[in-house]
Amino acid sequence: MKPDFQRPVSLTQFLTEERRAGFGDTDLIQLLEIVARACKRIAVATGKGALGGVLGEAGTGNIQGEAQKKLDVISNEILLDANAWGGHLAACASEEMEHPQQIPDAYPRGGYLLLFDPLDGSSNIDVNISVGTIFSVLKRPGGHRGHVDTSEFLQPGTNQVAAGYVVYGSCTLLVLTLGHGVNVFTLDREAGSFILTRRDVKIPDETSEFAINMSNQRYWEAPMQRYIADLLVGKEGPRGRDFNMRWVASMVADVHRIITRGGTFMYPLDEKVKSKGGKLRLMYEANPMSFIIEQAGGAASTGRQRLLEVVPEGLHQRVPVILGSKNEVDMAVKYHAAV
Ligand code: AHG
Ligand code: MN
Ligand code: MN
Repeated sequence: MKPDFQRPVSLTQFLTEERRAGFGDTDLIQLLEIVARACKRIAVATGKGALGGVLGEAGTGNIQGEAQKKLDVISNEILLDANAWGGHLAACASEEMEHPQQIPDAYPRGGYLLLFDPLDGSSNIDVNISVGTIFSVLKRPGGHRGHVDTSEFLQPGTNQVAAGYVVYGSCTLLVLTLGHGVNVFTLDREAGSFILTRRDVKIPDETSEFAINMSNQRYWEAPMQRYIADLLVGKEGPRGRDFNMRWVASMVADVHRIITRGGTFMYPLDEKVKSKGGKLRLMYEANPMSFIIEQAGGAASTGRQRLLEVVPEGLHQRVPVILGSKNEVDMAVKYHAAV
């Protein structure tokens, strides 16, 4: 018989053992299983590409004024539909919907709130570059009552009880935290099951790789201009070493590179997005990713504040984001403090 540690551990077994160890209750475990199952359906839809007629524009716009791709709409519907009946949720909120979606009256309401970016990086769908789903789980304040108000979602990221993302790439991966470390699961497509493939991921404190959209350089604030300029002059400058750059333009893929080999990911404030507060959304992009990065030993900041401590004022609020390997995030923050 093979030694036990070589036996594949499914997501179901992993979550069951988490619950036995006191991390999460049966409702949270069921919620995470349902989200993972919905993401398998999104992986199937994404994987069909042109054959499934899923590429291209939906011809509609979301509340944020962004044109929706067909797969934005399909992924949102898959997640809403999967989460309606389980009895574990009080409501869902999504990038694609102005207001929270209430659990239909036909089903019982639970004590959790789920937020998601159903399809992240959707500008990359039509060119067959990795896209993903990002999700965050909060507890409903005050337990189970009627209609959920938007204000009940407006909790800082430190309140998250679980967060994760799924990357639909050359393989489909689920990266999950329940607040004590980060674990990676790979989808066994034939068996239809997520299998634990990296346990308790830690990212290096030091890195020489960063991700930023350089085309926005002239619009950044002065501290970010100075910080990136010092990275670009490499070993001839104050940092004394060369840096490498990557930018996928799917946050899930850029963050997953960091989870795999370290690095930083930045979407700072710039003149174009200043009036909105930033580009990335706090509640269902920045917060879950920051929770995962911190749980993997990294750091996440707006440049001026720990990201998870930002008190949200709106469901679709945007924030500047600097996250990844701890020492490099701290360095970027120092440039902001020096102003
Ligand atoms: P979404 O597709 O959910 O709207 O998110 C796209 C985000 C993020 O994934 C990515 O890092 C960033 O937008 C890319 O922005 P640029 O196109 O400005 O590079
Ligand atoms: Mn996104
Ligand atoms: Mn999206």
